[in-house]
Amino acid sequence: MIPQSENYTIGIMGAMPEEIAGVLELMTDVTEHNIGMRTYHKGKINNTNVVLVFSRWGKVAASSTVTTLINLFHINQLIFTGVAGAMSDKLNIGDIVIGKRFFQHDMDARPFIQQFEIPMLGVGHFEADAILISDAHEKINGAIENKLIHENEHPTYTAILKNQKAHIGDIASGDQFISNETTRENLIKHFPDLLCVEMEGAAVTQVCYEFNIPFIIIRVISDGANSNAPIDFADFVEHVASVISKKIVKIMIA
Ligand code: ADE
Repeated sequence: MIPQSENYTIGIMGAMPEEIAGVLELMTDVTEHNIGMRTYHKGKINNTNVVLVFSRWGKVAASSTVTTLINLFHINQLIFTGVAGAMSDKLNIGDIVIGKRFFQHDMDARPFIQQFEIPMLGVGHFEADAILISDAHEKINGAIENKLIHENEHPTYTAILKNQKAHIGDIASGDQFISNETTRENLIKHFPDLLCVEMEGAAVTQVCYEFNIPFIIIRVISDGANSNAPIDFADFVEHVASVISKKIVKIMIA
């Protein structure tokens, strides 16, 4: 779903330096632009213009980064890849989530408006473009079937990624790394259909909504958002994150 035009540019964001490093290897004609404590890598993947950036963690960091991509680099579409903690028992570490609806689980302006409603916008969530979702799902499923994604140098994760599946569904974001069962259960109570949690997506989708930029957010499950999450997360980021982000972007911008 990439319109081939000289003026068409895709912004690519990741919340971990490891993810960016892998994607950078795909790029040619790269120039670096340092703005607001971020390095924006402008160049090409195949024949598509891209700007790649490490957003840093959290909703504010991600919002400021995507705003720069939109206003200074004039992107036409955004791809965000990164890791997430699973909130549904259907998911395993290594599974891929293509976000459909995005909630800010720490937004609470009661009693003025309902819990989770975004002030001034009158909405409780943001939704990714249906065509981009089905395009991503088709490409990622094809890649999983052709064993493109799960080849990986690290033997532990080759095993985990072997049964990798792609899912489409709800993602919640907040300025919190979820690593205890009480918080996890509480979130599930509020968002029963939630597939995973992370710390940037729903903020990025709000900015894209406000500027009318189509977006797709693809997350790979690094942990179970439980008490084992800090260990699973660190392992996953070290051994898998950069390889898998690179493959996802390659599949998306083939
Ligand atoms: N990103 C990856 N795992 C996460 C977790 N458990 N909580 C929040 N963000 C995450």
